[in-house]
Amino acid sequence: MTEALPAARSREAAAELDAADPLREFRERFIIDHRVIYLDGNSLGALPQASTERLARLVAQWGERGVRGWDEGWLELPLEIGDRLGSAALGAAPGQVVIGDSTTVCFYKLACAALDARPGRTRILTDLDNFPTDRYVLEGLAEQRGLELVWLAGDPFAGPDPDAMAGHLDDRTALVSFSHVSYRSAHIADMARINALAHDAGALVLWDLSHSAGSVPLALDADGTDLAVGCTYKYLNGGPGAPAYMYVRRDRQPELRQPIWGWLGRRDPFEMAPGYEPAAGMRRFLSGTPPILGLVAVDEGVRIVAEAGIGPIRGKGITLTELAIGLADARLAPLGVSVASPRDAAWRGAHVALAHPRARELCARLIEAGVIPDFRRPDVIRFGFSPLTTRFVDAWDGIAALNDALADFL
Ligand SMILES: Cc1ncc(COP(=O)(O)O)c(C=O)c1O
Repeated sequence: MTEALPAARSREAAAELDAADPLREFRERFIIDHRVIYLDGNSLGALPQASTERLARLVAQWGERGVRGWDEGWLELPLEIGDRLGSAALGAAPGQVVIGDSTTVCFYKLACAALDARPGRTRILTDLDNFPTDRYVLEGLAEQRGLELVWLAGDPFAGPDPDAMAGHLDDRTALVSFSHVSYRSAHIADMARINALAHDAGALVLWDLSHSAGSVPLALDADGTDLAVGCTYKYLNGGPGAPAYMYVRRDRQPELRQPIWGWLGRRDPFEMAPGYEPAAGMRRFLSGTPPILGLVAVDEGVRIVAEAGIGPIRGKGITLTELAIGLADARLAPLGVSVASPRDAAWRGAHVALAHPRARELCARLIEAGVIPDFRRPDVIRFGFSPLTTRFVDAWDGIAALNDALADFL
């Protein structure tokens, strides 16, 4: 597909890419506001039509069946949908993914579990450009437990560099944690290599997959990943505040204990017995009552990703970002915009970071003009391309709108 890109300098050529797009019909499965060009699906994905129907059915079931719903399938949803997500987007065999709390809480639970599994080790390693909630949770854990948080510094527009990381690893390192796709630059980290290096030092690795799942293929099992979390409201289209997931590699599950000992993480919760004993398998990572309304919406988002296939989704994500970068180089670079995402598609997720000193004002102008990107400090405009809903003409129009906004500054 990439050979077609030089021709896509015209809007007509972008429309031709849409006409040839094998995923084009998926857009019709979503509720789309045709008055705007939505380039923020990497923050909040679009609403699948099927989710409105599924939520209406769930609400009806709630009304008709009340509490009986728990015995009629609701209690199984965290694990069932987790397995579907694992197969559709994570490269995870069944029995290793569960959907639970917010990303932040899931991250906290797995970070605690990892630290408890490495007693006597005193260091946590992460990078300065990791997503804020991950950094803050790790800061909190370091303070509460008297551990040292080691910050990997580097190019803020690249991801964690395995070679630089290796220099910080030793027998004091308990936990290493990074985002797989950088929220700012879209840089893809070398998961397999980082896992291997950390394991050589005896540490566990916890990944944040929020910008990866549903946009780039993941091979958690094959890459030797220990632990991962991610949100479901970006490329998985689960809806605002949709519950997040946890992945724990099967052979690590028996040794790991999470810190929030709720009744639904216990073996035989309805025994109401004294004393906490963790359930077997992934259920032990749950704490309280599962958020069923949110879960069924996640299920519909995951089903669409499974049907479209992560391979075609990745293919279109690459072509969309190549198109945007080509146009940005041709039209925006002379106006002071630089591409702050990796140029090598193999190391780039599905959004493009464009840097300009007046990025914040430019974002406001774009929103006034009906183009929805987002701004990330200090100087980045993020254009998110959701392969199931973003057309090539949307990418073209987004860059054209930014061109117009910049021209107004001159
Ligand atoms: C990488 C990453 N981690 C975590 C979060 C958010 O965590 P939570 O779902 O708990 O708000 C985001 C939100 O954008 C994110 O990009």
